[in-house]
Amino acid sequence: MPRVSTASVRQSLVRRVRRGLHFLGWSRSSEPVRRARRGGRAIEVRRLHVGCGTEILEGWCNVDIQDLAGVDVVIDVTREFPFRDIEYIFSEHFIEHLGFEAAVRFLQDCLRALRPGGVLRLTTPNLDWVWSTHYSVNADGEEKHRQTYMLNRAFYAWGHRFLFSPPLLESLLRAIDFARVCRRTYGESPHADLRGVERHQEYGGSPELPDLLVYEAVKAEG
Ligand SMILES: C[S@@+](CC[C@H](N)C(=O)[O-])C[C@H]1O[C@@H](n2cnc3c(N)ncnc32)[C@H](O)[C@@H]1O
Repeated sequence: MPRVSTASVRQSLVRRVRRGLHFLGWSRSSEPVRRARRGGRAIEVRRLHVGCGTEILEGWCNVDIQDLAGVDVVIDVTREFPFRDIEYIFSEHFIEHLGFEAAVRFLQDCLRALRPGGVLRLTTPNLDWVWSTHYSVNADGEEKHRQTYMLNRAFYAWGHRFLFSPPLLESLLRAIDFARVCRRTYGESPHADLRGVERHQEYGGSPELPDLLVYEAVKAEG
């Protein structure tokens, strides 16, 4: 009989418990997620973080197209979205990296993957703030050159494809059939899981004109 040490039994138990908890969204371990993908099954996680980059959220399934440290699922979400029954989806500084049509498809995929009553939280630059802080039609000379450069940079640098204005993003979320759409502020949410999740720096907007748009969209119950 091979001898089994108490320590190895304890470690094995801890691993099993962690795997179980991971699917409920309480711990982060990429192993069960990768196994679900190999089996071709839809991935069930409670909290999904899309376009995470290096901003890994503990207890969430972190998804990115780049295989960065801490990313649980490496996929191009415009090509596949193999998730279902999710309670919360969070995506920060990501949707502006999609063209408009891909953004619409992404939002539809999020709605499909959420469970009834599930919530999508989106944080993205505010076109109103970008426009009004970067460009003035009355500027001239060197200042006009600078502003022209800065506005184009905001639109196209860092892989940006489409910046949203508040009414467009809100109308789109409603048109896609989210039951409720609420504007929020950075870090704030009535949902404890979505409170304080933003990691990306703010650029100094004001309460009247925030630099970021934060929306929460809720899938209809039942
Ligand atoms: C500006 S970074 C934001 C990272 C992080 N969320 C933050 O707020 O700092 C955008 C991220 O989206 C990822 N990304 C871009 N296109 C993607 C796609 N089609 N599928 C999955 N991730 C994508 C990029 O690799 C990058 O990590």
